[in-house]
Amino acid sequence: MKLYDITIEYQTEPLGLAVKRPRFSWKLASGQNDTVQKAYQVIVSNDDLLVWDSGKVESDQSILIEYAGADLEDETNYQVKITVEDNHGEIAEAVTQFTTGIFNPQDFVADMIGHNFDASVTAPPIFKKSFTLDKAVDKATVYVTSQGVYELELNGQRVGQDYLAPGWTSYNKRLQYQIYDVTEALTENNELAVTVGQGWYAGIMGFEMKNHHYGDRVGAFLQLNICYEDGRKEIIVTDETWSVETGAIKSSEIYLGETIDSYQPQILKGNVLVLPFDKTTLVAQENEPVRITERREVVADFIAPNGERLLDFGQNMTGWVELKVKGKAGQKLVVEHAEVLDKDGNFYKETLRQAVSVDTYICDGTEQVFRPHFTFHGFRYIRITGFEDVNANFTACVLHSDMKQTGTFTTSNPKINQLQSNIRWGQRGNFLDVPTDCPQRDERLGWTGDAQVFSWTAAYNYNVAPFFSKWMKDVAADSSLEKGVPHVVPDILGSYSSSAWSDVAVVVPWVVYQVYGDLRVLEDSWTVMHEWVDYIANHAEDNGLWMSGFQYGDWLALDKEESADRTGATDKYLIANAYYLYVTDLVRQTAQLLGKKKEATTYQQLYDRVLAAFQDEYYTKTGRIVSETQTGAILSLYFNLARPNDRGRILKTLVTNIENHKNHLSTGFVGTPYINHVLSENGAHDIAGTLLMREDYPSWLYAVNMGATTIWERWNSIKPDGTFDESGMNSLNHYAYGSIGDWMYRKVAGINQTSPGYKTFVIKPLFIKGLDEVTATLETPYGEISSHWICRDSQIIIDVTVPVNTTAQLYLPEKDGFITLGSGQYHYEYETNTDLALLRFSLESTFGDILEQPLAVAMFNQMAPGMLDNPMIDMARGMTLVEVLGAAPDARPLYEAVINELNKQEF
Ligand code: BGC
Repeated sequence: MKLYDITIEYQTEPLGLAVKRPRFSWKLASGQNDTVQKAYQVIVSNDDLLVWDSGKVESDQSILIEYAGADLEDETNYQVKITVEDNHGEIAEAVTQFTTGIFNPQDFVADMIGHNFDASVTAPPIFKKSFTLDKAVDKATVYVTSQGVYELELNGQRVGQDYLAPGWTSYNKRLQYQIYDVTEALTENNELAVTVGQGWYAGIMGFEMKNHHYGDRVGAFLQLNICYEDGRKEIIVTDETWSVETGAIKSSEIYLGETIDSYQPQILKGNVLVLPFDKTTLVAQENEPVRITERREVVADFIAPNGERLLDFGQNMTGWVELKVKGKAGQKLVVEHAEVLDKDGNFYKETLRQAVSVDTYICDGTEQVFRPHFTFHGFRYIRITGFEDVNANFTACVLHSDMKQTGTFTTSNPKINQLQSNIRWGQRGNFLDVPTDCPQRDERLGWTGDAQVFSWTAAYNYNVAPFFSKWMKDVAADSSLEKGVPHVVPDILGSYSSSAWSDVAVVVPWVVYQVYGDLRVLEDSWTVMHEWVDYIANHAEDNGLWMSGFQYGDWLALDKEESADRTGATDKYLIANAYYLYVTDLVRQTAQLLGKKKEATTYQQLYDRVLAAFQDEYYTKTGRIVSETQTGAILSLYFNLARPNDRGRILKTLVTNIENHKNHLSTGFVGTPYINHVLSENGAHDIAGTLLMREDYPSWLYAVNMGATTIWERWNSIKPDGTFDESGMNSLNHYAYGSIGDWMYRKVAGINQTSPGYKTFVIKPLFIKGLDEVTATLETPYGEISSHWICRDSQIIIDVTVPVNTTAQLYLPEKDGFITLGSGQYHYEYETNTDLALLRFSLESTFGDILEQPLAVAMFNQMAPGMLDNPMIDMARGMTLVEVLGAAPDARPLYEAVINELNKQEF
């Protein structure tokens, strides 16, 4: 048995930890099956001083064990020894360490410093300080942040690998700082330089293109704590002894891009001012910093039909382009960004709206490497101008919060694989310190609804515990009982409280708890969670229902596409109250987990009362739902709101509605995450499969067929003829519809957590037509779960991995009951009972799908000449064969023959 991947507050050997009771987690590997932890011991010491010995604890807890020793000291290195015993009597031991930072923000002695440049100066100020050291340094740690976005240099070298620091928080309440060990970078003569761009703090943000959301001047805050080898200490801090000047960066704005003049930089000198600043707002960064996680080369360099020179990086992404170039002195190079080309193949910038995203560089005549500093772009293509007679090398740098990838999902179908890739890229493009709606246009805001609907999927693809725990603190900071929960967090719009959006306050902490077993996020979020429910209760009518206020509804649903307000056809207050019930139940469960018995009873009573009112309001006596939309039915079933006897009728409503849309979904942000779950869980899994595998509009694979490399904001962001939706809201990198990823992992691969952190889980793969092999892996807090299935050539093969210290229930397809599995790897192979081929094409297949197969077309042409020329055929494309047979029963032998032949083929 082996101990591995020991983390402390989700980090490996963290530096600058400012958590008073840090939590330790480890994973176990064992050559033996059915291994569980029997006991553990954690010992924490500071050199020879023992600070905590947990003693031998008989327990299988191996994640998030809370430190319970003496108060930890500032800036101290602690060594940790973990010993574990398993049920086979084996013992494993491992060591790790962590170094604390500064626990009390008021202990910082630095000041926030600003400058006195005229407001017309757009160049980011560079705050500088020179100092000499004449003794040998044992350890030097720098704590740094800014009001704005900064980069720090020490002796001309960039400190750290992080970009766009300090990230985005509700700055007036919480300002993150970063911590770097700079011991090695110090010499005798030193210079610190902090350049601060406008960033989210002072720059333009929001579609109204307003700036100065938090302040009109940027500032810098730095404290360098030096410990000499002789034990003496020295502190260098930002204060009025620093200098300030501008440099080569002439301007930089997140939406607009950056301009650098390295040829004739305008160096203005100013005075440093100490700014009023509340140090209690300082918090150590807890999520992963924004980093360059990938570099991509150009895949095509070409001249567009309109004569412009364009470069394609082959993937829609977020970041910037690094340019290596030797231009002439004074030569101006311009790089513009776009997500897509128009149907003629020309550069198309409309999806950016007012965010022009232009980087401009003026060369100094030497070989140079340019990249922007305080901006980022959502792009796949760049348009370059001014590059005549120069050789330049372009590299796209992908930027996002550097979360650990936890999930993989691959299948035998390349289009589904591309969909999964698009979902993952949607997350990479939009998890940039805060979860944004999109990375390219004049928004890039922390839209709460988008994050809420995507949160489960996000937690399959990446470890989002630190990312969401950090963001939830801003959700809490910007919410109140009076106003409710904002639509965007950090809140710069000042609009609050729509269902599905504001429900993020409850749903996201709940997801983090379920996926990572992290109870602290529930403790930390308890106030905002229950106050959101209380807010709704305070605004409810006498009967308990919430019937007032602005609602986004089933945002962008197709059942009311033409409506000006984009909120879909489902009754908005049905959605609001469905979510109200859902989150009230989660708050009740949270109260129970946190030992708040009284509150648990209160929320249970509230739930019962609102549910009764909901049923009276939205279902007739005979079980008809008032809003007979897909989303109305989906919420009724998924949130378990319909009376038990009415569920059958409501499912039928859903299925009929889907049929009426020629077997297509019509859902928006609210219905989409759940539609397939509801179908799979209620005996209509084949329809869920059909929806996933559809390739015509509206469907997930429609976008794949149209060349999408990310998830689009709209089902028809690009229309079949290559033209664009022109509603003025058309991002090609919006992750909300990527929320199908949760169903793909959970139902198709079948990996379902049944207790927090995946201590116990179910593997229950469900086959779908069109896929004959699926592999998913998920790195859980206990280690990797995998589920692999093949259903081919009359055979079923299943492979699963169960991590040490967990238990799984495996449901083998086509077999009854389940098998309980302890840790280990398991392999099953057996004959299928059903005609497997029919999993691919059956009378449930749509006529359109069948016609995509050239063999089918050839057979129809041969067996029923002229049939496909009938104009009715186009209408029948969206119908299943069963439906078509309703109109043309005589055609049955023909269809069956075609299907049988098709099923013999390998696709
Ligand atoms: C954003 C969203 C958001 C919506 C709500 C849009 O502009 O891009 O995805 O949730 O507004 O109104």
